[in-house]
Amino acid sequence: MCGIVAYIGKKQAYPIILKGLKRLEYRGYDSAGIALLHDNQINLYKRQGKVANLEEFAANKDLNGTSGIGHTRWATHGAPNDVNAHPHYSTDGNLALIHNGIIENYDTLRKELILHGYVFKSETDTEVLVHLIDDIQKNEHVSIAEAVRLALLNVVGAYAIVVISKENPNQLIAARKSSPLVVGIGGEGDFYLASDATPIVEYTKRVVYLEDEEIAIVDLNDGLKIFNINNQEKTPYIQQLELQLEALEKGGYEHFMLKEIHEQPRSIRDCFRGRMNADEGWVSLGGIKEYEQKMINAQRIVMVACGTSWHACLVGEYLFEDLARINVEVEYASEFRYRNPIINENDIVIAVSQSGETADTMAALELAKSKGATILGICNVVGSSISRITDAGSYTHAGPEIGVASTKAFTAQVTVLTLMAVSLAHKKGTISETKFHTMLAELEAIPEKVKMVLEKNDIIEKIALEYKDATNALYLGRGSSFPVALEGALKLKEISYIHAEGYPAAEMKHGPIALIDEEMPVFVIATKGTSYEKVVSNIQEVKARKGKIIAIVTEGDETVKEIADHVIEIPDTDEHLVPILATIPFQLLSYHIAVMRGCNVDQPRNLAKSVTVE
Ligand code: F6R
Repeated sequence: MCGIVAYIGKKQAYPIILKGLKRLEYRGYDSAGIALLHDNQINLYKRQGKVANLEEFAANKDLNGTSGIGHTRWATHGAPNDVNAHPHYSTDGNLALIHNGIIENYDTLRKELILHGYVFKSETDTEVLVHLIDDIQKNEHVSIAEAVRLALLNVVGAYAIVVISKENPNQLIAARKSSPLVVGIGGEGDFYLASDATPIVEYTKRVVYLEDEEIAIVDLNDGLKIFNINNQEKTPYIQQLELQLEALEKGGYEHFMLKEIHEQPRSIRDCFRGRMNADEGWVSLGGIKEYEQKMINAQRIVMVACGTSWHACLVGEYLFEDLARINVEVEYASEFRYRNPIINENDIVIAVSQSGETADTMAALELAKSKGATILGICNVVGSSISRITDAGSYTHAGPEIGVASTKAFTAQVTVLTLMAVSLAHKKGTISETKFHTMLAELEAIPEKVKMVLEKNDIIEKIALEYKDATNALYLGRGSSFPVALEGALKLKEISYIHAEGYPAAEMKHGPIALIDEEMPVFVIATKGTSYEKVVSNIQEVKARKGKIIAIVTEGDETVKEIADHVIEIPDTDEHLVPILATIPFQLLSYHIAVMRGCNVDQPRNLAKSVTVE
């Protein structure tokens, strides 16, 4: 939530920051702002709404300056308006600041600062920071960098900040705690700072990911210096970015979401590349190899996540239990940490997160770690906070996901969880050699089968046209298709704003069936497998009440075709792999419905991709 970007060097800062803000817009789009330092003056421009509004507003203004900071906001404290937009100025205009995170003790700090004579313009928690730094600097006669450090010692909460000041025009000061911040080291003695590497990759591949409670000073004369909050200098650990610029572009698609849906044959293949070979008959997840025996011996594994990633965990639970016979509990990260859960050193907690920055998931992991559990991660974003605090883990390698609604990250998470389950099951001996080899062969065939599902796009678009004006929808599935139903409903809700609910098919008769009438579309996963007949009965129950059935079926199915209003065929596969295939028609369906309803597919209202507040 909230994206920050900054530049200092010899180039004009404005175009770099503006482009960076567009790349970070997925983190929030309630307002955007930029502060540029030029001729001993900080020029500040901010606007409610998207970065495009800011760009239009700033068009005729003085945009000079080789140093600047920019922010795109997802509102927490205070309405999304011009005044609450970042950057925030000190009263005398000598310094300006951008912030991603939440200052939890802002009210106390604000009251103290008011007593010191400060007048607040905005309703934000962030404005306390800028006045606090100013207050400390003036009263204690210290440098801005030292004032930042002392101010942060007084702060409770999460922050990634960058401070620009007239006093030190050659310097930017940045710090982080629980919100991400990357420093890019340019080739001309220049520096880039951002919430993630996407605004930086175009200019340099050399980056440093700041750790919690670190302060970075980038200085045109002295270079990059990093200190911890106790003022001890640290040696920057410079990493090489592997991110490719093309991955951040739409590549000819109308929306990032559509591009990402179509990338799935590739992203799934990238996910298992080098980790298994069906012909040679092996699977190996290097990242967690050392922990496999512990996982096999564990009395239980707890999976924690939020949203779509939580749905992937539910599929994971089914896979781990059915294949490897390992007891799994899936927890909403946000609930887990506030429930005083029983965790000990024998437990393994796996966090699943696309961004690797979700605050609730981070907090759940920290809690598990404090109780001595082994913590593992499945993340997409390389170098993200979760990937860094975990003992070990596996990346999903899906590539940057920019559409706010998660698509390819979900199928990649399920693929990693499948690889883990198959590997553990094989080592533990809970599946036969034949099953092991079939699973690997089926997995290897999945990217081609995903392609075949994507070819159903026209059929799915026609169905979308028929149901685009629905006000409610039900999604039903059983076994590992139940999480697919939940995920289908979430996709529809979040991008098309149609109320939708996912249910285990058999639960329908315990309540939701009351909702069914001729207006209600019911999306059902009715593929061949253990519960097929039962699901067919559920379909009959819906039809008996005149509901509309849109069923995902196995290719060649004739039974459901006769009862359902529409069927979408998917290729036959091992039952354990159905979630990967069955989720794709739902992604396309939500996409088309959202487009037809004129919704902003890539940036749905009120949402942000990386939820770094609890
Ligand atoms: C839905 C969606 C969210 C995220 C959730 C967790 O399409 O994207 O529900 O899945 O906010 O995010 P990560 O996976 O980054 O932890």
